[in-house]
Amino acid sequence: MLKRADWYDLARDTNWTPRYVTTEELFPPQMSDTFGLAPAAWESYDEPYKTTYREYVSVQREKDAGAYSVKAALSRMKFCEQADPGWLSTLKAHYGAIAAQEYAAGMAEARMARFGKAPGMRNMATFGMLDELRHGQIQLYFPHEFVAQDRQFEWAHRAMHTNEWAAIAARHLFADLMNGRDAISIAIMLTFAFESGFTNMQFLGLAADAAEAGDFSFSNLISSIQTDEARHAQIGAPALKILLENGFQAEAQKRVDIAFWRSWRLFSVLTGPIMDYYTPLARRESSFKEFMEEWIVGQFDRSIRDLGLDRPWYWDIFLEELNETHHGMHLGVWYWRPTVWWNPAAGASTPDRDWLEQKYPGWNDTWGRCWDVITENLRNGREDLTFPETLPVICNMSNLPILGAPGSKWGCRNYPLEYKGRRYNFGSEPDRWIFQQEPERYAGHMTLVDRFVAGLVQPPTLAGALAYMGLAPEECGQDAHGYRWASADEPSLKKAI
Ligand SMILES: [Fe+2]
Ligand SMILES: [Fe+2]
Repeated sequence: MLKRADWYDLARDTNWTPRYVTTEELFPPQMSDTFGLAPAAWESYDEPYKTTYREYVSVQREKDAGAYSVKAALSRMKFCEQADPGWLSTLKAHYGAIAAQEYAAGMAEARMARFGKAPGMRNMATFGMLDELRHGQIQLYFPHEFVAQDRQFEWAHRAMHTNEWAAIAARHLFADLMNGRDAISIAIMLTFAFESGFTNMQFLGLAADAAEAGDFSFSNLISSIQTDEARHAQIGAPALKILLENGFQAEAQKRVDIAFWRSWRLFSVLTGPIMDYYTPLARRESSFKEFMEEWIVGQFDRSIRDLGLDRPWYWDIFLEELNETHHGMHLGVWYWRPTVWWNPAAGASTPDRDWLEQKYPGWNDTWGRCWDVITENLRNGREDLTFPETLPVICNMSNLPILGAPGSKWGCRNYPLEYKGRRYNFGSEPDRWIFQQEPERYAGHMTLVDRFVAGLVQPPTLAGALAYMGLAPEECGQDAHGYRWASADEPSLKKAI
């Protein structure tokens, strides 16, 4: 048995010169490298994290053993009976939006493992592919014990295979970043722009909230996942380095900018409401904005500067959105609550609102004014007035509602575009800009509301839309706390504390 140092560099560096096919056939550009760099240019690729298969398997085995033994030791059924309903909604939203996409991420890693021209990239991506298989399997397995107890947990398992709106939004994003690109673009967009920052939000930020909420199985599970992400997220930076050395700064920057913005928008609807509204007030570790500033703004800013890239051109727009977008997404999800597979927690009791005002000065005068009307209606026994009667305008890029600050700050507008006789609507300047970079990639897609208007959803009613999304009445979201937060004495809050 040789020592690792005696064979590792040779093994991680080995490339082949094809004799029976051309390089072009071995590495078709659409799958491999749309930049068209020669294989020799990729030979300097140096992945910062080096491991062997033997080491990898042994470490992963330990991680699985740790996560599974914590799960086995804790009675989850009991936990679920006692947990705050807002936290259960967090679990349902997380598992439905994430588990199957982890499996899809495995296919993206497989593309880099097969079509990356740098041997080191293929090596790292092989481990990345195994990581993502683990993430898919473990996040389907852990919540599976709740399937018999709660139809929404059952629904979460099939969410990604439905036409539910949040599932469409998640698929549209991830298909663009991971499954509809060449290996090098995947390395930039998935591993560098998405995994090195945003997965920290979902897997470390949420793990902190989970531990606070007493959900140690979940906290342990997602921290274990993040240790893998932190490793395979390092595939992208050395690829970017090579692109910059070969004069592809503008194209590389564009891919980073597209992926970063698109990821932000999905996190504003998935993670924002969870952190600032669903997690019981007494258990909130930090606000969503504070987590974003720590994990995304600071960290991402440092890594792009280290590489010699620029901040995305829309940086100021992004910083401004940190104060606003997820509040609007939350309001929209709560309002259209029958259309999601979890029970949104309003998080709008008086103490909740004080916290929001403190974390987001001006909240009461903007978003709070919408919640004033909802609260008033509920106090008057008019639940019927708290449900939607119209469709939202949906962004043709994010597939999420187009929104802006209400009340005194009024900032609602859309960003339209005519392309080949069709009108598209976008929720922001960056969303429209992304479409303009490569219109044919996106032009054919129809949002859920486009489908509704085109007559594909029949009958054209809320009931018809729910049937189209595959949601049966018992599975549709309801207010997580049965509106108790709206009453003057707020018993729901006392329970949460
Ligand atoms: Fe993953
Ligand atoms: Fe990953």
